[in-house]
Amino acid sequence: MKNLLVVALIVFGYSTFGQNSDLPADFLSKDFHKNRREKLREKLPPNSVAVFFANPVRNRANDVDYVYHQDPDFFYLTGYREPNAVLFIFKENQTAANGTQYNEIIFVQPRNEMREMWTGRRLGDKGVKDILGFNQAFNNTDFKKYNVNFTKFDKVLFYDFFNDVRNDERDSADLFDLQAQFKAKVNFPEKGATTLAVEPLKNNIDLKGLESLMDDLRGIKTQEEIELVKRAVQISCAGQLEVMKAMKPGMSEREVQGIHEFVFKKYQAEDLGYPSIVGAGHNGCILHYIDNYKPNISNKELILMDLGAEYRGYTADITRTIPVNGKFSPEQKQIYELVLKAQEEAMKICKPGTTFRDLTAATRRIVNQGLFELGIIKAVDERNLYYPHGCCHHIGLDVHDKGTYDKLQEGMIITIEPGIYIPEESKCDKKWWGIAVRIEDDYLITKDGYEHLSVGAPRTVKDIEAAMKLPSPLDSFVLPEFGKKN
Ligand code: GLY
Ligand code: MN
Ligand code: MN
Repeated sequence: MKNLLVVALIVFGYSTFGQNSDLPADFLSKDFHKNRREKLREKLPPNSVAVFFANPVRNRANDVDYVYHQDPDFFYLTGYREPNAVLFIFKENQTAANGTQYNEIIFVQPRNEMREMWTGRRLGDKGVKDILGFNQAFNNTDFKKYNVNFTKFDKVLFYDFFNDVRNDERDSADLFDLQAQFKAKVNFPEKGATTLAVEPLKNNIDLKGLESLMDDLRGIKTQEEIELVKRAVQISCAGQLEVMKAMKPGMSEREVQGIHEFVFKKYQAEDLGYPSIVGAGHNGCILHYIDNYKPNISNKELILMDLGAEYRGYTADITRTIPVNGKFSPEQKQIYELVLKAQEEAMKICKPGTTFRDLTAATRRIVNQGLFELGIIKAVDERNLYYPHGCCHHIGLDVHDKGTYDKLQEGMIITIEPGIYIPEESKCDKKWWGIAVRIEDDYLITKDGYEHLSVGAPRTVKDIEAAMKLPSPLDSFVLPEFGKKN
């Protein structure tokens, strides 16, 4: 009797496991994902099928894996956030052996009491039906038996395979096995990606077509997505403001990073959109500096902070550059004002019809002219030595999101992020050395212009210096130094 009760409790507890009842309610709705699949189906060529695999689990060391993050296309189309899954979207209805008509089918990892105890809840086939709204959902252990004849399609569209998918010997239906089984079903050349150029593919396999279809879809945000990006941006702006208030000479880059990321977590952002970039002084010249190891930021330095909270899968991408002591030096201010002017020049033309190229050119023109007037360059810098990157990209599920990179269209969300970086030993007066400024904001393209989403992070010299005078809850937060007694 006692044993039966224990079993009953385990079964009951286990059966509630997969419901994911504590998942925040503001994740994208199942209708969103279903609608995205329908939109993709509309774009597919006749007699075709699109195939998507979940992201692999990546090993960090020994028995520890990197935190799992779903492939953004897979998440966009399904809402499924677990590994070891494959999705098929058919242009036309298919008929199952039992006569059921269907035009999409997903295979997901099965429920598993032991695995779930160690690594968390799984939806399983039932959860994927109930929660994500799929009609045709099966456990991936059934994939081997799935016997659609792929040769009958004019096109089978999928992304080429990377070769970094591990085979978990304990799991005969993990991503490695799903891909191997799929390759067999479509007669994919055994040697894989490296030999594709020379080995003829079966002529209905299309490894390129999905890119532009997904660019078209994901580049224009729906209202649900816009709300989530706005929240990610709002949270990231709050992080910038709190750091401006708390900033003091002697802080470490890591500490500054921590303040931003604490604010992200306080507001329930589940992740970072990309590794946080926090570079003081010369470190700001390293465009994607993520070491963040500098222990004592000096009084005279600028600190460049490029961070984005990820909220329900969607990321912000915001950079602010501030003087550590609360006041820009004359040289810092001149460079800062120049970058700001470049950003505002791009903002003037930021509307549907303008190209990404136009935006970059507008910022480059201002930066080149300004650097020339300051005597930092002697002639127009064709190679853009001090501004070596483009100024704009889509944001969304990825920080450098999918989307078309031609003309701006209503519903796109983009960054405008000019910068000037003057490393030590540059061929200019040394008073400029070590100055690195990037200003990066996020914009929703509207019918005839833009909505500036990141206004919550002070941006002008005046507003930054004013924000840095505000009190911070961290002003009195002091830990005893290591090795000293209280
Ligand atoms: N945070 C990376 C970028 O600004 O593109
Ligand atoms: Mn960016
Ligand atoms: Mn950035």
